[in-house]
Amino acid sequence: MTFSLSDTAYRTDSREAKETMYADLRSQLTGLLHGETDWIANTANFSSLVFNTMPDLNWAGFYFLPTPDELVLGPFQGKPACIRIKRGRGVCGSTVEKGESIVVADVHAFPGHIACDAASRSELVVPVFVGGQVAGVFDLDSPLPNRFDDVDARGIESLVKILEQTRA
Ligand code: SME
Repeated sequence: MTFSLSDTAYRTDSREAKETMYADLRSQLTGLLHGETDWIANTANFSSLVFNTMPDLNWAGFYFLPTPDELVLGPFQGKPACIRIKRGRGVCGSTVEKGESIVVADVHAFPGHIACDAASRSELVVPVFVGGQVAGVFDLDSPLPNRFDDVDARGIESLVKILEQTRA
């Protein structure tokens, strides 16, 4: 496999600029995952692509649900993180309960937020579905407050959809 990361410095100061970044990310991700079905390899490369392309992130990675009641840390980029999170706890566990993405503008204002990296100020968590069931989450943290909006939620969901199709 040959793959080179885009060295574009993406802007995130408008919805249009973000849409451009996510369109490029979809194209890069499709190439990166092409012909590969190994879940660990694909989720590891997914987190690396996102972390090394999107500006202003300090953490990006997966938590999975090996049992229905507890998330366990998966492939990620950033500092070492909390390993286990109970369903319903923190932003990640709440996303599992809801089955929908959660955007947190200020992590200090989110009841029960679990601080893994003290630098994190805002967060976006997107559910990952396998066979129609929530199988885990993809979590992004930023050192900037209010870093994520609905364009980011829809954009990351579109990337997760491409990943999910490698399991179909
Ligand atoms: N903040 C998350 C925990 C995971 S770390 O941010 C990597 C939460 O509240 O669920």
